[in-house]
Amino acid sequence: MIHEVNDKLFAGKVVFVAGGTSGINLGIAQSFLACGARVAVLSRSSDKVDAAVKTLHDMGGEAIGFAADVREFDAVRDAFAATEAAFGKADVIVSGAAGNFPALAENMSSNAFRSVVDIDLIGTFNVLRSGFDHLNRNGASIVNISAPQSVMPSPMQSHVCAAKAGIDQLTRCLAIEWGPYGTRVNAILPGPIEGTEGMLRLAPTEQHRAAIEQALPLRRYGTKQEVADLALFLSSPSAKYITGAVIPCDGGLCASGGRS
Ligand code: NAP
Ligand code: COA
Repeated sequence: MIHEVNDKLFAGKVVFVAGGTSGINLGIAQSFLACGARVAVLSRSSDKVDAAVKTLHDMGGEAIGFAADVREFDAVRDAFAATEAAFGKADVIVSGAAGNFPALAENMSSNAFRSVVDIDLIGTFNVLRSGFDHLNRNGASIVNISAPQSVMPSPMQSHVCAAKAGIDQLTRCLAIEWGPYGTRVNAILPGPIEGTEGMLRLAPTEQHRAAIEQALPLRRYGTKQEVADLALFLSSPSAKYITGAVIPCDGGLCASGGRS
């Protein structure tokens, strides 16, 4: 684990994690904190924000939290401004807020489809666009949390596939536009990760899990730490020539297309 190897890797750095109050994104926030960063997290539920900030404080680090919806540009912008006032400009932005539910397109209203596109894709734009005004641009790292659905068309996931494909392309476009400032923009496609809300929704039973694991080349779910390690690497000096990359951390799911 990177944070066990170098607990000073992000000392003095400021990391903003949108959607960082649970699951994979909280794991990422914890790992940056364990490497010495000061961390800001944002999500809708003030209870989840308070709990996440307590978790981060209990680890002995500096953290602040904001209850806001990534669909509300002004609220996100205010959170970045408050983070800058408290900690200084951000060095790393992780954009991971997302919504998902399994549903056939024929059973989705326009608003159902829109809600996921709004949270995932427009939300990511809002986070990156407002964060860019509060970023230490030269040397900054942006990590978007996408999903294998962005490259693997999947039934019951048309809304997520469309939204996450948009995030991948936004990642590449902003890598081109912001590279000259010294800002790198990459994305992670996590595979099925154990102990997360996402997999609870998509694979609620042990039978679902067994079928998914059998179809994965590595034959197991991933861990939050394995995704966090990639986010740390992408934001570290070791990755300073990597930008515009969309990288699976998925046990081989994208490579196999879900076929064992
Ligand atoms: P999770 O625990 O539900 O994380 C989602 C986070 O986003 C929560 O903190 C949630 O908090 C926040 N959020 C949701 N809607 C929001 C909104 N409109 N505005 C601000 N914050 C919002 O789920 P997870 O399974 O760990 O997923 C985390 C990320 O990994 C997502 O981007 C997901 O697509 C991606 N991913 C997950 C898996 C997996 O195996 N779980 C696989 C591939 C990709 P609030 O409810 O307080 O807003
Ligand atoms: N099937 C079909 N439509 C559904 C649905 C389902 N299983 N679940 C929700 N919807 C529809 C709602 O009916 C509504 O459409 P309508 O207004 O036409 O009735 C629309 O989606 C929005 O639902 P709402 O609950 O008002 O949205 P929200 O903004 O409060 O919540 C969600 C967003 C729906 C994505 C919600 O699941 C959420 O907050 N998810 C965050 C956590 C999460 O998904 N974690 C996993 C990340 S991978």
